[in-house]
Amino acid sequence: MRNATKLLAGGIISAALFTGGLVQANEDLAKKHACLACHQIDKKVVGPAYKEVAAKYKGADDAQIAALADKVMKGGAGVWGPIPMPPNANVTPEEATTLVKWVLSMAEEAAPAAAAPAAEAEAKTEEAAK
Ligand code: HEC
Repeated sequence: MRNATKLLAGGIISAALFTGGLVQANEDLAKKHACLACHQIDKKVVGPAYKEVAAKYKGADDAQIAALADKVMKGGAGVWGPIPMPPNANVTPEEATTLVKWVLSMAEEAAPAAAAPAAEAEAKTEEAAK
């Protein structure tokens, strides 16, 4: 049983590492396009914090994601305040979509759903110990 627990824990850790790698790649993309000059993950700078953006568009459908990607490329104003986001002309549509999905994924981190597998694993471990 102890081995099973170890295996389970290993699975969770590698899943976390995998997600971490993707997040890093996206963050590099955001750095490459200087998004982080105006945005931070959890603090408003010139633009809104990405976590706030993620919370606002939680459950966004493809059309909303496309509209946000379009705004990232062309710029725009009026949603978060008087300061406009200037156009990010060298961002491709694919990159813009990737970046928007990355930004929107930040709301899910804290969601109870993300914690569920760990709780389940804990329950199984407890059961195995009986
Ligand atoms: C010069 C500063 C600046 C840069 C650079 C910048 N942004 Fe923004 N961003 C803003 C501001 C200001 C807003 C708020 C606009 C508004 O109120 O509609 C914003 C809004 C956003 C929004 C939310 C849009 C909405 O309609 O709710 C997203 C998503 C976003 N930015 C992503 C990005 C990405 C991705 C990049 C890099 C490619 C980037 N931003 C680069 C200033 C910036």
